[in-house]
Amino acid sequence: MKKPAVICFTNNKGGSGKSTTAGNLGAAIAKAGKKVLLIDGDMQLNLTLSFFEEERVIEMADSSLNLYQAVTGRQDLSGFTYPTRYENLDLIPSSMKMSSIERDLNELNLKRGQKRELVLRDCLSGIRKEGVYDYVLIDAPPTLGIWVMNILCASDYAVIPVEASPWGMFGLANMFDFINEASEINEELEVLGIAVTRADFRKGYFKQTMETLREMSGIHVFETLIRVDSSIEWAQDASAPVVEFKRSSRSAKEYTELSKEVMERAGR
Ligand SMILES: Nc1ncnc2c1ncn2[C@@H]1O[C@H](COP(=O)(O)OP(=O)(O)OP(=O)(O)O)[C@@H](O)[C@H]1O
Ligand SMILES: [Mg+2]
Repeated sequence: MKKPAVICFTNNKGGSGKSTTAGNLGAAIAKAGKKVLLIDGDMQLNLTLSFFEEERVIEMADSSLNLYQAVTGRQDLSGFTYPTRYENLDLIPSSMKMSSIERDLNELNLKRGQKRELVLRDCLSGIRKEGVYDYVLIDAPPTLGIWVMNILCASDYAVIPVEASPWGMFGLANMFDFINEASEINEELEVLGIAVTRADFRKGYFKQTMETLREMSGIHVFETLIRVDSSIEWAQDASAPVVEFKRSSRSAKEYTELSKEVMERAGR
């Protein structure tokens, strides 16, 4: 039976490419014939918007079948998946109500011995056992609180999308401290790698930033770089991942290459 690899996309730096990377890797892995579940963990709904039209996204976000309802109701996530228009690819949408998830988690009445950091992990246990999915990819918001701690504690691996720029690098140390904290609760958690996004070779600091990233001991940096490409925004405007929207684009090819590295390292 399949045991899914659960991978979260996390970085407290906003706009580092988490949602774009989660969506495109999910679509590329599904195209490779693996069964994928995407989970939108952010109230900005960006991952959900990558696959569904705005009106439908709002409908799902307001319904009783989204991640917020599942987590706050402590329900098994298996009943909350929606098929996307692509084969092998399902999604659990987020909700604007996720804006209060930190408070809601802190106020949950837990049984003695239950950990507040493991609420999402419990909700995911059915999906882990079912053996339907090869990959579960979770998009995290740009925060470092109890909710992202839940996401890290529910995952086997973390992928850290980083924009290769001075500000993109700022704060990375905090992110790694937070991941280390999560590893104390979830001993299985591993950083699968840093994915460099929005790379621009022409910029002077690009080379320097890449060197700094590669020198960080023990952290794998994926070989494939995702360069700046306007096709990504055109695809997002069409509610589609670029690997489906414009297969011939540079970013579609790069995300396909990156998906091979991810599958190789996660071994599914
Ligand atoms: N390779 C790229 N080329 C051009 N634009 C990109 C690329 N990758 C991402 N973008 C754009 O950059 C912006 C930020 O990307 P994205 O939303 O994926 O980041 P994020 O880390 O999920 O942000 P947040 O922290 O707000 O959740 C988006 O508008 C997206 O369209
Ligand atoms: Mg995002």
